[in-house]
Amino acid sequence: MRVLKDISALNSWRRNQEEMALIPTMGALHAGHMGLVSKAQQAVDTVLVSIFVNPTQFNQSSDLDSYPQDLQSDLTQLDEAGIAAVYVPDYEQLYPHGYRFKIAENELSKRFCGAHRPGHFEGVMTVVMKLLQLVRPEYVYFGEKDYQQLQLIKAMVKDFFMPTQVIACPTVRDKDGLALSSRNQRLSDAELNLAPMLYQTLIDDGDLESKKSRLQSLGFQIDYLEVYDDRLMAAVYLGDVRLIDNVPVAGKFI
Ligand code: PAF
Repeated sequence: MRVLKDISALNSWRRNQEEMALIPTMGALHAGHMGLVSKAQQAVDTVLVSIFVNPTQFNQSSDLDSYPQDLQSDLTQLDEAGIAAVYVPDYEQLYPHGYRFKIAENELSKRFCGAHRPGHFEGVMTVVMKLLQLVRPEYVYFGEKDYQQLQLIKAMVKDFFMPTQVIACPTVRDKDGLALSSRNQRLSDAELNLAPMLYQTLIDDGDLESKKSRLQSLGFQIDYLEVYDDRLMAAVYLGDVRLIDNVPVAGKFI
């Protein structure tokens, strides 16, 4: 596996590849990321994973500081999975002028997670735009767990006439239903026992108000629980850990 640390190494590696897929990540890889890896490997010969904890998408420095990082374990997992190459840039490479230029969107990015995390999606779209421009992959893979992010990136790629195809993959869950997320590592044992109730509440019968009361009585603090685009989407806090999830609900809440 090639570990590419700078743009010139990335460019010379890329020149020798034909069709390829990019999987952008912020590291702390788990089975959800590895699910994207294996889906991409089944479809495309060459898969590149990028690992970059993107500071511009964190609206709170404490969240950035506590974001889990373990590059060695990430590289071992990717190597064992037979990944062709990993791109691990630093901040100066991706932001040569600091955060001077950014991608902004004026509708969906202001709602749901965007309303609670000002600037978050500008940071996400900006770094994804930079990675797509640098790598120019035929395909880019994202999980449906970050449904709002996925929709924004699909729209951005279309609006800027980018040649990359965005591939969406279903959320990977623990046996108990908890959506896999790097943030789960920060849950205490008690919180980990409770966390699957988020998914359970989303899929159980009941209207939005009863779901909200159930989550609150269990100890979740709700940022939002709303239907968008035939999805029931939620963001909640357990202690200081923010969890998001969504499930398809076609026609249920009309
Ligand atoms: O979903 C993530 O891990 C990040 O938002 C992404 C897409 C890698 C951009 O930093």
